[in-house]
Amino acid sequence: MILSRSQALRGELAVPGDKSISHRSVMFGALANGLTEADHFLTGADCLSTIACFRQMGIEIEQQEDTVRIHGKGLHGLTRPQAILDVGNSGTTTRLLSGILAGQTFDSVLTGDDSIRKRPMKRIMTPLTQMGADIRSAGGTGCAPLEIHGSRLRGIHYLSPVASAQVKSCVLLAGLYADGPTSVTEPAISRNHSELMLRYFGADVRCSGATATIAPEPTLNGQKINVPGDISSAAYFLAAALLVPGSEILLRNVGINPTRDGILRVCQAMGAQIDLINVDSDGAEPCADLLVRASSLHGTTVEGAIIPTLIDELPVIAVLASFADGTTVIRDAAELKVKESDRIAVVTENLRRMGADVEPTDDGMVIHGGKPLHGAVIDPHLDHRIAMSFAVAALAADGETTIQDADCVRISYPEFYEDLARLQG
Ligand code: S3P
Repeated sequence: MILSRSQALRGELAVPGDKSISHRSVMFGALANGLTEADHFLTGADCLSTIACFRQMGIEIEQQEDTVRIHGKGLHGLTRPQAILDVGNSGTTTRLLSGILAGQTFDSVLTGDDSIRKRPMKRIMTPLTQMGADIRSAGGTGCAPLEIHGSRLRGIHYLSPVASAQVKSCVLLAGLYADGPTSVTEPAISRNHSELMLRYFGADVRCSGATATIAPEPTLNGQKINVPGDISSAAYFLAAALLVPGSEILLRNVGINPTRDGILRVCQAMGAQIDLINVDSDGAEPCADLLVRASSLHGTTVEGAIIPTLIDELPVIAVLASFADGTTVIRDAAELKVKESDRIAVVTENLRRMGADVEPTDDGMVIHGGKPLHGAVIDPHLDHRIAMSFAVAALAADGETTIQDADCVRISYPEFYEDLARLQG
């Protein structure tokens, strides 16, 4: 994909459905009794991996454009998969599914692509083992392939060393099958979609501060779900509109759950003009339209409890910081190293290729903004969020930028380049 300096972005866009919520609607729908229908479902490769895994365990799932109908069979309705479960590139599928599989009466093996087979799974193996699960890393590396022998589980109180919704959700899902309540306390609150949605399906989930507790053996019932637009996908257009002079865009129906909206708060702290209109807080997942106008930005510090609420947006925040006046410091974000790529190294490498002044640190980056950026060849290391972040950088840089392996965006946003072209007129 070759991109260069853009004319002003104009118009409206409804970004695809939220990835985290789409995954969960399939998983929880499968464990519920009866039909779950999810509208505005994200048909990116990651969520299709989740659908494929549940089909392999005997769940009928129909997909028609962005509507998905899941014929749930209840908490104990999954059947033994006939083959190895392939999670593709999806960390969410790997970790949440492992929690479900740990408490089944059958054995299973799951694995995925090269990136997945390097990502840390000890973070879920440790609490699951404490619950009595039998889960092993086939190669002894602490990574997938994972072999899971279904076991009887006990409820635990797990003090998680990381603020991770995937770890939290894995433990809570195993807790559905435990002999007593299961709780997870995190160092900072991560996205709470599992807690909200499990409750919506009928589970007894309580939250107090950074602790979530689930009671075992609930009866889950199928539900209708309207998946909100993914704020993590909206983030690229929001950033592009802020950076390209003269831009004004309206991003329709974006999820603004407070455990996900850190990007809005950081952009506003950098001087961005973003108005939330048509705010709808009636449902479990609040939504709004975001009106974004080109703005001149200044540096900021991004640290502490806000980090889990914008973890996937840090690559595009680093891009914004490169164009902002002054210095931006990102810290407390060591988790970036264990995402689809090492996002500290890969963001630094590619920003430097474009001429930015950026230093990697152990838990983030220091970016001295305001130097004009120039086009470059970008290697996203097959990481969808890196490809999209640097597509945004290209729109405000001199000359041509080439994004290698540009189609890796299919993981979370298959129509990304088409939607960008539409806003460019
Ligand atoms: C996700 C949680 C986050 C996020 C990922 C999706 C989820 O990962 O980075 O893209 O759906 O629960 P961690 O839980 O590893 O922080």
